[in-house]
Amino acid sequence: MKGIVLAGGAGNRLFPTTKVYSKQLVQLYDKPLIAYPISVLMLAGIKDIIIISDANTNELYKKLFGNGSHLGIQISYERQEQPNGIAEAFIIAEKFIGKDSVTLILGDNIFYGKLDFLRNAIKYNKGATVFGYHVKDPQRYGVVDFDENGKVLSIEEKPIKPKSNFAVVGLYIYNNDVIEIAKNLTPSARGELEITDINKEYLNRGDLEVEVFGRGIAWLDTGTPQALLEASTFIGAIEHRQGLKIACLEEIAYLKKYISKSEFQEIIDSIPQCSYRDYLVDVIKNEHLFTKY
Ligand code: DAU
Repeated sequence: MKGIVLAGGAGNRLFPTTKVYSKQLVQLYDKPLIAYPISVLMLAGIKDIIIISDANTNELYKKLFGNGSHLGIQISYERQEQPNGIAEAFIIAEKFIGKDSVTLILGDNIFYGKLDFLRNAIKYNKGATVFGYHVKDPQRYGVVDFDENGKVLSIEEKPIKPKSNFAVVGLYIYNNDVIEIAKNLTPSARGELEITDINKEYLNRGDLEVEVFGRGIAWLDTGTPQALLEASTFIGAIEHRQGLKIACLEEIAYLKKYISKSEFQEIIDSIPQCSYRDYLVDVIKNEHLFTKY
């Protein structure tokens, strides 16, 4: 299973910051936003990851993550020349995906909660698996509608009159057919290759699974300054209460045994004195007190 983090886009709603770099580098509480989706892939056991963004921001991501080897994973980079749509990711990443299946996560989506749903979906996926989440404002998202037996009736992108309150979250699992499907798409009225059109094609083929998240999972949006503030407050409140970090990639790499103790110590030694470093020191000193993944 390969992993794609799509982390470009125009980011107009976060202007002027996005004049300089794409929004997934913005600080969300105590780390860059992009750490959160990367952590989801790492926790799901995906160790071969590509980040897709504009050329300028890719250089900055490289400064942050390099080739990923310090985290015991592989990170590569591809550029998207223009924000031509989420589905273009599969065309850009064709070589990287090869003959594998692929999980795509949007670089601005935050998930918090037990990730068993994802590990299971990856294990059992045949065609496509996507996830539905009950929201108050479904018209802002892809919307999935079910019949009374839970059978999917339709998926629509940002419908004016949504048929349900279930948004499709920015986390998608596909078999290798997705590359061909993406290549055969035509741009939508807003000029984008739509991820929803990919999902519709799987639905037409009878190959689409939609799983609805229970209430124990938080899915947060970070598209506007207000949403970013709310997501930061949410993450900050939990981290402060528990004394445990969410999406701390170095901790995940160590506790999942992607890296050895001495490699973890090397990372710590390379970090300047700060609370992030203090936290990693605490993980190595009191390993038995931290959650085992
Ligand atoms: O967040 C979930 C929603 O994401 C889904 O419910 C929708 O079906 C899906 O279309 C998408 O809707 P958005 O309008 O929120 O997508 P947005 O254009 O904001 O892009 C989502 C992320 O992908 C964002 O981090 C920017 C990045 N992106 C987007 C496009 C269109 C790219 O890197 N390149 C692109 O071409």
